[in-house]
Amino acid sequence: MNNFTYDIPVKVYFGENQLGNLGEELKKYGKRVLLTYGGGSIKKIGLYDKIVAEIKNAGLELFELSGIEPNPRITSVNEGAEICKKEKIDVLLAVGGGSTIDATKFIGAGAYYDGDAWDILTGKTPVTNCLPIITVLTLSATGSEMDAGGVISNLDTKDKIGYIHPMLLPKVSFLDPTNTYTVSPYQTACGAVDIMSHIIEVYFNMNQDLYMLDTAAEGFMKTVIKYAPIAMKEPENYEARANLMWTSSWAINGFINGGKRQAWSCHPMEHELSAYYDITHGLGLAILTPRWMEYTLDETTVSKFYQFGCNVFGIDKDMEPMAVAKKSIAMLSDFFFNTLGLKSTFTEIGIDQDNFSIMAKKACGGSVLPGFKALKQQDIENIFKMCL
Ligand code: NZQ
Ligand code: ZN
Repeated sequence: MNNFTYDIPVKVYFGENQLGNLGEELKKYGKRVLLTYGGGSIKKIGLYDKIVAEIKNAGLELFELSGIEPNPRITSVNEGAEICKKEKIDVLLAVGGGSTIDATKFIGAGAYYDGDAWDILTGKTPVTNCLPIITVLTLSATGSEMDAGGVISNLDTKDKIGYIHPMLLPKVSFLDPTNTYTVSPYQTACGAVDIMSHIIEVYFNMNQDLYMLDTAAEGFMKTVIKYAPIAMKEPENYEARANLMWTSSWAINGFINGGKRQAWSCHPMEHELSAYYDITHGLGLAILTPRWMEYTLDETTVSKFYQFGCNVFGIDKDMEPMAVAKKSIAMLSDFFFNTLGLKSTFTEIGIDQDNFSIMAKKACGGSVLPGFKALKQQDIENIFKMCL
């Protein structure tokens, strides 16, 4: 096992009726609170009123930024950063899914930068500081509630860029599964795929000495496979929503990385799809992942697929490794496209070949996408074609 540093200092309040702690937590960081949220789902589910009541009861001053888009735009980030500067905001409160939380991270960093926050995403300027962030999660998917990353879109340049910095980690996250009862079956499915993908990006690695982490990852994947269909059919099933929620956080909070050092593969490819076609992140991952698996499966990687097939899908260990590997990909496809009911091709979601070349070039940074298997531009174009 390689050396690694384990440091995930996010305080989590998990479960129902924990919002009573919100005021006390916010107060630790100051008086002036900027509440950030998306297109209004938090009002429909009654969460907005509860949050505002907690803030008022704590004697804090409330400012708001609403309308943060799915695939959040840099324009919203800059708008939020301006409010922080003008109103001398002390603490940020992000209430929503990954998009709201991601945007809030760069609002917090942008508040300390006199310029376009896009410069942070492109690496033109470093993160020097970040306002403290508290989150109330309403959708189990990205893990942004417990990780140090975020992904922002720029419509002008057709870029969607991810960025990670320890200062962006939320201080506190409130994870109440009942806040996800209203998430649609479609968004539940996309969230489930995103969680699966975060695990797959790390699990598919040829390191041989990580039994403990591999076993944890397999348990997390089995949790998603078990509970996502239940949450879709029974939106108010607490057990299902709770298991998905906690898995979403642990899939990407750094724990399963341990000593694994490997770049991700499907995410950089998917971010290009979202950048060019504004599709839901999890949907893009669902279409890409089985094709990426088919493309990377060969004699050098078959052992990992064999492990995946046997331990996650319970395929007979006595079958030939290559047969197990192929069956595991078929079973994952069946889970994504039949059980979760997601569309299975680019064609069905209106993506054609027109931008494959430029998207592939951007995904590999013009050279190579290192990962489970190194992918050059042509490899990525080939994978995109398999998705048509
Ligand atoms: O905007 P509102 O009205 O809130 O509606 C949202 C949005 O339309 C709705 N929603 C959220 N909670 C709900 C709800 N509807 C009903 N009831 C609720 N309780 O769901 C829609 C999608 O929300 P969004 O926040 O966009 O979804 P998600 O959490 O999947 O976030 C996706 C974004 O996160 C990025 C993705 O690329 C994408 O931009 N990612 C962030 C990562 C990270 N920070 O580490 C890693 C991921 O790989 C991912 O790239
Ligand atoms: Zn993701």
